[in-house]
Amino acid sequence: MVGDRIFDEWFPVADAAVVQPGTWHPFDLLDDRYVLVCDRLGAVMVTRDTCPHRGAQLSLGSFDGATIQCPYHGWQFDGSTGQCNHRPAHPTQIPPDFAALRPVPSQMAYGLWWVCVGGSPRNLPDFQAFTAHPGQSIALGPKLVRSSGPRIVENFLDMAHFPFVHADYLGQVPFTEVPEYDVAVLDGALALTNCVFWQPNPGPTSTQGGNVTYKYGVSHPYAANLTKIPNDDNGGELAGFSIMIVATPMSELVCQVWNITTVADPSADLASYNEFQEIIFGQDTRTVESQRPQRLPLDGRAEVHQRADKASLAYRKWLTHRGIRYGTSLNA
Ligand code: FES
Ligand code: CO
Repeated sequence: MVGDRIFDEWFPVADAAVVQPGTWHPFDLLDDRYVLVCDRLGAVMVTRDTCPHRGAQLSLGSFDGATIQCPYHGWQFDGSTGQCNHRPAHPTQIPPDFAALRPVPSQMAYGLWWVCVGGSPRNLPDFQAFTAHPGQSIALGPKLVRSSGPRIVENFLDMAHFPFVHADYLGQVPFTEVPEYDVAVLDGALALTNCVFWQPNPGPTSTQGGNVTYKYGVSHPYAANLTKIPNDDNGGELAGFSIMIVATPMSELVCQVWNITTVADPSADLASYNEFQEIIFGQDTRTVESQRPQRLPLDGRAEVHQRADKASLAYRKWLTHRGIRYGTSLNA
């Protein structure tokens, strides 16, 4: 795992709406535990949730909006800088600088707080729809999925499963054929375009079946986005919407998956999109959790492919190029 570029990727760890002044939020990421601390003025610091003294879990202690106190020997840390201010066993001594908690980089984007625990942070995943339609997004999750991030992302890029996993929603037998689509790498991101699929119920506002045009993008190994536009009988552009999923790996084979939906129609009922996505995501989860091996095979001979897997094979190649081993067969 040493040298794996996965540590340089950003992952969402908390919904910005719940990160209120004076609150803290423990989370697991990449086999370690962290805590996001929001001080009483609203400044956010993220640090390992482990005391530098004897390794107790800080979030089992207390946080009053300014000071974090460890539950074990009561060391006190500044909730904004991490500095150790007080050690009760030696009340008159000034604690050394190296007793401080070390903050890791964090930022707010797409309505979520993101964290990068590696030394050379890469870019956040690209989700242009979110910025193009301000205020027209809704987050679902996080949802626990017992599989690797790459299995989860690959499923999101797959159309051939629609009639089977999402029967009566995103597909319906006998409309099973996956027409040819285009795959390209543009500015380092994977782009799948001209994807067309017949759907009985393309979205929460649709009233009948019809062809839906998809495009997909992957600019982060554990995230992907899509935009789907129903045909004119189902509202066309205005009924279109975009989804970004990001799998935050608690560990290699257990992820918390965030879904953000952005809709084109400013008068749309956002909650109805979450209800729709909740059903679809539940159907996907059951299948993805059943896949073996759970780590995505990167050896082309490891599984049997069909022509519709062009996106899957391009994603596997893209992951290899990106230097990612975590969640793949290279880490088995
Ligand atoms: Fe935290 Fe000792 S382990 S104060
Ligand atoms: Co699916």
